[in-house]
Amino acid sequence: MTNLVSIFLYDSNAAVSKAVLDELAAPLSDDERERAARFGHAGARRDFVTGRFLLRHALTRHCPTCLPKDWQFVIGPYGKPALADDSPALQFNLSHTKGLLACAITEAGAVGIDVETLERKSDLEKLARRFFSPLESKALLALPVEQRRERFFRIWTLKEAYIKARGGGLGISLGSFSYTFKASDALQLQVHEGEEPCACWQAHSYRVGAVHRLGLVLPGSAPPRVPALTLESFWLGEPEHRAQPEWLGGTLELPGSTMEVG
Ligand SMILES: CC(C)(COP(=O)(O)OP(=O)(O)OC[C@H]1O[C@@H](n2cnc3c(N)ncnc32)[C@H](O)[C@@H]1OP(=O)(O)O)[C@@H](O)C(=O)NCCC(=O)NCCS
Repeated sequence: MTNLVSIFLYDSNAAVSKAVLDELAAPLSDDERERAARFGHAGARRDFVTGRFLLRHALTRHCPTCLPKDWQFVIGPYGKPALADDSPALQFNLSHTKGLLACAITEAGAVGIDVETLERKSDLEKLARRFFSPLESKALLALPVEQRRERFFRIWTLKEAYIKARGGGLGISLGSFSYTFKASDALQLQVHEGEEPCACWQAHSYRVGAVHRLGLVLPGSAPPRVPALTLESFWLGEPEHRAQPEWLGGTLELPGSTMEVG
């Protein structure tokens, strides 16, 4: 088994015309196109189509004998998509947020990815009290106010990534596990009583450019390993908008090492 994880990122800020959207939808299955047509909100439709285009092309990068249009998916009991034919042993997960789409692909096993924009306007302390474990919200509220936003989104994306890796959706209680941060900034996933032992999972948090946070969770043996991470990016916008997104060529911070983007 390899612990290589490829993360494909797409800056979804640029406008996409109907003609380009039709092009992006070309490799999608009939089911996906029908689902896209049901989105009432144009932005949600665009993100869905772009995400599936990104996913199909990313899978083909890993397995070039299968064309983007030929990948077939099944949906798990809580909505997690997976490959219908698991012979290449590839697992993937997708996440959308304002301005960023992310897709993780690996042969390391069940993977979960989540991205969020740090610009989201919400009462973070209130959300933490509602969704985080008591341990997490206590640690968050103990931080100086100026450090809370970054920590909040680190925890949020990691919690989402964990439930997405397990594929259980909100059937997994968000309070049933906690992330704790050590002085070194290394993080630890602690699963509370009645849940799986934490040694089964490793978790990583990355800052993507100025306004996004990315959480990644995948199986691994204790102590958590830093995955061998490759980052690739597609730029799918209109040709005239094909400027490099601001974060391409930047550096993602990994616990214990750094990785160049793009
Ligand atoms: C669907 C869910 C897994 C994530 O939703 P989300 O964060 O709104 O959306 P994301 O953009 O990160 O992820 C959506 C993608 O994950 C995948 N997905 C859907 N259901 C999934 C599941 N049960 N497990 C893993 N991945 C799933 C799909 O590929 C989906 O994209 P697509 O429909 O375009 O193919 C669900 O857990 C959820 O609604 N979570 C939000 C709940 C919350 O309150 N979180 C607080 C965190 S502290």
